This record gives sequence, structure tokens and C-alpha cells, in this order.
Amino acid sequence: IPTPTAEDKFSFGLWTVGWQGVDPFGGATRPQMDTVHALEKLAALGAYGVNFHDDDVIPFGSDVATRDQIIARFRKGLDDTGLVVTTATTNLFSHPVFKSGGFTNNDRDIRRFALRKVMRNIDLAAELGAKVYVAWGGREGAEYGASQDTRLALDRMKEAFDVLGDYVTERGYDLRFAIEPKPNEPRGDILLPTIGHALAFIEQLERPELVGVNPEIGHEEMAGMNAAAGYAQAMWAGKLYHIDLNGQNGPKYDQDLRFGAGNVRGAFWVVDALLAGGYDGPVHFDYKPARTEDEDGVWISAEANMRNYLILREKVKAFRADPEVQAAMEAAKVPELGISTVAEGEGWQGLLDAELADPEVLAQRGGGFELLDQLALEHLYGVR
Ligand code: GCO
Ligand code: MN
Ligand code: MN
Ligand code: MN
Repeated sequence: IPTPTAEDKFSFGLWTVGWQGVDPFGGATRPQMDTVHALEKLAALGAYGVNFHDDDVIPFGSDVATRDQIIARFRKGLDDTGLVVTTATTNLFSHPVFKSGGFTNNDRDIRRFALRKVMRNIDLAAELGAKVYVAWGGREGAEYGASQDTRLALDRMKEAFDVLGDYVTERGYDLRFAIEPKPNEPRGDILLPTIGHALAFIEQLERPELVGVNPEIGHEEMAGMNAAAGYAQAMWAGKLYHIDLNGQNGPKYDQDLRFGAGNVRGAFWVVDALLAGGYDGPVHFDYKPARTEDEDGVWISAEANMRNYLILREKVKAFRADPEVQAAMEAAKVPELGISTVAEGEGWQGLLDAELADPEVLAQRGGGFELLDQLALEHLYGVR
């Protein structure tokens, strides 16, 4: 297995390795982790970048002097380790004020507070060189049909991104936004629950070019979606601004397993989709080290994300380069999908006039997909 290099652009959220293991049924199982310690450890493991929520680095409610002191120390940690700040994001979910959301809270005062919190952290993100600002609206949603008007919530969500688009443009920041969809948890139903919802929403914004998506494998799989197909569609739309890789076992609570654990087969196809689509942004891991682990287990799991990505990348490349696979692709007519259905200059009239093959004959042709999939599995199982 190759070792991670800067070209791999592996990045981690500080909240991942720093997760203390709190869940709805139990408190922390690990002590708080110092952010500079996290930077040192991640750099030593071969990471290239980090990202953070405002509150991961600067505790909620810190006064200006404390904030400045913390930022100076964090900056020194970045300089000492050479880690890049790839993205930043805002915590609009932990403090009780956000119990019913930030941008789409019914309470206008809370919406105004949320928007200003984001603007303040955007200043820091730009200062530290982040190129993408992630927006995960975990508390934007509802449990009851009557408690929120979905159309008005979407109006306010749009307003928030329009204001933020003006903000980064007028401040001259080189920063784009990436919306992270999730179907549920912590809310019963979250707004913009899947990649498709987010892509459709973005088209309604005043500055759609500034906003893309940050799909997380686990979130798509929680909704029963095929994550690889979602990433592919986001790239097709030119909207894959960032990725959150992790693992999940089917539709259940958000497991945030390390990348490559959970749905292994799905992970293989995600890597394949990213390589095929030419994704060249940070390869970011958003996972939670199991709460059973001590700090040693945290670093084993952190490194495992990168190892699994590198393992799967080798396997995907070997699969694509295998002459038997290429022949099976040809037999399955996979490349033929790249040929337009109506020939150039033919038009609908030409199609109406053309002599077509007999559908009964066409129906007898086999797909050839079982062979293709078995070849993929054999690469994945490591026997090819
Ligand atoms: C989740 C989400 C979050 C966000 C992160 C960035 O697991 O529900 O992935 O972890 O990605 O908080 O805002
Ligand atoms: Mn998640
Ligand atoms: Mn995420
Ligand atoms: Mn997460």
C-alpha cells in the first residue's frame, strides 16, 4: 500500500479525530483533544489538510481577546505542520439556540444571529486560505408537519445563501459554498435531504455558480441512495465542490464509520466515480472513531481512512486496466452509451424515416453485466 503524499490531498475535520464519543445514550468516553495536538498527529500520518467548525477551534462565546489568542496559536500549529486549511464550516447545531435550526428557524432573531455567525467565520476561513465553505444544515428541518412551512423555509434558506454570496463577492473572497445533504438526524426530516434536492435548490439562487455540493457517502446511503451515482451526477452538473468520505451500513442512524468500512462495494464505486469524473479537490474524511476507542484507536482509524482510499484506488485502477474487463465492457456495450442516439444532422425526422432493428431480435441480446460485476468483485476480493 502506498503511503499518503501531499498530491493525495487527504484532509480531516478536526471534529472527527476530536470526537469525544458522546451519543444519545452516553457521555464522553475520551477527553477533549487539543487542536494543535490533532494537527501534529494528522500531519505525521500524512494528511495534507484540515478543516473545522468555528466552535471546534474557538469555543462558542469566546471574547475577542481570547479568540485572537486561540487563532494565533492555531495558525502557528498550521505553519509548524505545513497543513493546509482546505475548507471551513459553521456550527449551527450544537448550541441550544439552534435547536430548531439557524437559517430556517421560525424565529427571525435566531436566523439573524446564525447568518452573522457564519459571516464571522467566513472571514477567518478566507484569512486561513480555505477555498470552500461547507454548509451542513443538520438542524434545518422538522419533526411535525405543522411546525414549519417548507416553502417558507426554502425561501429563507435561499435568502441566506444569497446574502452569503453577496458577502463573499463584495468582500472579494475566493470562496465557494458546498451544501452537505443529509436525510435526517438530528432532525426527523432535514431540508435538502439528498444530492438531488440540493442541486435543484442551487439553481434557484441568485449566484448559483458560487454554490455546489459536499456529498457524504453515509448520508446518501442512509437515504437508500447509491453514493457513487450521486457523486457522478454532481460532477456531471459541475457541482462537486467537496466530498465527505466515510462508511455506512445501510439505512440506519448516521454511523460515520471510517472510509472503506461499512459498504465496501459502494466505496469501491465511489472511488471509481471520483477518478472517472476527474475530481481533484481535497479527499476529505468525515468519520467518527468508535466511542469504544482510546486515543490509539483514534489514530489507527484516522490512518485507516487514507489506507483504505489508497487500497481502493489501486484496485479501481487495476480493474479499469484489466484487458478482460475492457473486453467485457465492450461486450456489454458500455462505451456505446457515449454515442448520441440521434445522429448528427439526422434530427427527429431522420429518426422517423430510418429503418430500425426488430425489437424482438434486440430483446434477445444479453446484457453481459454479470461477468462485468464479477470481475469487479474479484478485483475487490484481491484474487485478480
Ligand atoms: C454528519 C455531518 C457533519 C458535517 C459536519 C460539517 O455526520 O452529520 O457529516 O459531520 O459534515 O458537521 O458541518
Ligand atoms: Mn455523517
Ligand atoms: Mn459530513
Ligand atoms: Mn459527521
